[in-house]
Amino acid sequence: MPVWFMRQAGRYLPEYRALRAKAGGFLDLCYSPEMATEVTLQPIRRFGFDAAILFSDILVIPHALGLDLSFAEGEGPLLEKADTRERVERLSASRVESFLQPVIETVSILSRELPRDVALIGFCGAPWTVASYMVAGRGTPDQAPIREMSYRDPELLDRIIDILVEASAKYLKAQLRAGAECVQIFDTWAGVVADGWFERWVIGPTKRIVDAVRIDFPDAIIIGFPKGCSEKAGIYASGTGVNAVGLDWTAGLGDLGDEFSAVSQGNLDPLVLLAGGKALDDGVDRILGEARPGRHVFNLGHGILQQTPIAHVEQVLRRLGR
Ligand code: CP3
Repeated sequence: MPVWFMRQAGRYLPEYRALRAKAGGFLDLCYSPEMATEVTLQPIRRFGFDAAILFSDILVIPHALGLDLSFAEGEGPLLEKADTRERVERLSASRVESFLQPVIETVSILSRELPRDVALIGFCGAPWTVASYMVAGRGTPDQAPIREMSYRDPELLDRIIDILVEASAKYLKAQLRAGAECVQIFDTWAGVVADGWFERWVIGPTKRIVDAVRIDFPDAIIIGFPKGCSEKAGIYASGTGVNAVGLDWTAGLGDLGDEFSAVSQGNLDPLVLLAGGKALDDGVDRILGEARPGRHVFNLGHGILQQTPIAHVEQVLRRLGR
């Protein structure tokens, strides 16, 4: 069974922390093709994962649209807000490709340097999730600001989402052109969307990106990750047209149902990886027992946590027979 981990490059690795300290800021890493390539390769060298995920962040898109972005140490992202009509109308998708050229350059280098048997995964954030940071200006526990906007002024949110669909499709196409073999759309906050609004804020915008990408790349392999709504994996897959769906730990692989024809990915709880021990072995065994043969990619149900011991990652790989 192929295996990679979301956030497999990052602070749980000493070699990442060393380079991060030298780089200065997190964004300096993202926008330096040389350093971003190195960070992407670190977990491949150490663990031999089957896929490398481009090292970048979902918030480079709003940055490219013209919003100031910074990552304060230990505080997460701070993004200039686009929460009024006037501010939204100032955003421009026209500079996306030129602004993100260093990231695209990283993809090109990686596609040359990676061993043939390691897949290169590009990514972007889904419009709803990226918009949630644009409206709030930072991470929040439950994305209340975008939820409030979605009821108060849904047309304004439509406008933000239209711009993000255009920018994200351009960005994913540039990654595929540069050699990405697959792309993942991260909808980390899909789970806070109210019942009845899933089509408008999650499925619709994601489908528009998938359709736009497939005009130029009809065979593009696209993974969607609608975190927090794994029980809707079936309607998400058929509604968006993605090839694979990333599942969090709340839904069993056995619950997917016969009509689910996409590939599944996931869904080990990052906290069981942190905890280790027998619970970790049991978690891996459960996935091995429930996954449909040839139709599952082993992964976590969300990104690896900073405090995760490297030995626990190795324990998983041993259990998988690697
Ligand atoms: O998976 C990978 O290894 C690729 C790299 C990657 C990062 N962010 C690196 C990162 C990817 C795919 C992301 C996606 C991302 N970024 C998401 C969606 C997936 C998810 O994890 O929910 C979101 C919501 C963001 C926005 C973001 N970036 C937040 C909220 C934070 C702060 C939280 C944190 O862990 O610090 C970041 C920072 C960030 N992105 C770091 C890394 C390695 C840590 C920065 C550092 O080194 O200080």
